[in-house]
Amino acid sequence: MKLIFLGPPGAGKGTQAVGVSAHLGVPHISTGDMFRMAIKNQTPTGLEAKRYLDAGQLVPDSVTIAMVRERLGMDDCANGYLLDGFPRTVDQAIALDQISAPDTVIDIFVPDERLQSRLTGRRVCGKCQGTFHISKLDDEHTCPICGGELYQRNDDKPETIATRLQAYHEQTEPLIDYYKGNDKRRVVEENRLKTVDGDCKPEDVFKAILATLE
Ligand code: AP5
Ligand code: MG
Repeated sequence: MKLIFLGPPGAGKGTQAVGVSAHLGVPHISTGDMFRMAIKNQTPTGLEAKRYLDAGQLVPDSVTIAMVRERLGMDDCANGYLLDGFPRTVDQAIALDQISAPDTVIDIFVPDERLQSRLTGRRVCGKCQGTFHISKLDDEHTCPICGGELYQRNDDKPETIATRLQAYHEQTEPLIDYYKGNDKRRVVEENRLKTVDGDCKPEDVFKAILATLE
């Protein structure tokens, strides 16, 4: 299965990808996580990407597509993948169709007004990478799973969130039409898009995604 999670920042792509990738037995590939790891390790890609992530803007397509091309060539992708946060532009979608076309694209829909509080309240574990919301934590500094230290992502500040949402609407939302097969530049004709309501409890979103895939 080759699957994509589309959706705005804070839609729950990462939260859902953990369970769905385990269920399907395919690797969860998050370009955001790959960039954050590259920044931490100060690789050439990380040094190039840092200013874009800090500003809430998309990293240039040439850098992102090269990174994903290399990742999809690895052995664990032989039976498919679950891509979270890629593609994010029509040019990235065209490149992916040429590298290894997805079978299904799930758009996790959450209205903008719900996203701000999800993002400002998000905390991530520095040790196990678990993602939580402060409303569900007894101690907002300590991971309830592994005891690691929780941190707030650099780009989860209100001013950066606004830029990320703008980037989503201007550059990523056109992918909804692309995957319906409506874009003139399309490589694949068929409608590969399914929409799932992401504005409900995480366990209900999970059930809706599995129902869509059946
Ligand atoms: P990336 O890391 O992909 O960030 P994003 O797309 O902005 O999405 P998020 O990770 O913020 O949200 P999510 O949907 O994963 O939500 P989550 O599950 O965490 O990208 C970061 C940056 O990297 C980009 O800005 C760009 O610079 C660069 N980049 C990455 N990919 C790129 C690409 N292809 N091209 C160019 N640049 C790229 O959930 C959020 C919060 O909500 C959590 O607190 C969670 O606990 C909570 N939550 C989750 N589900 C629910 C629910 N159902 N109900 C209530 N709360 C929920
Ligand atoms: Mg994410």
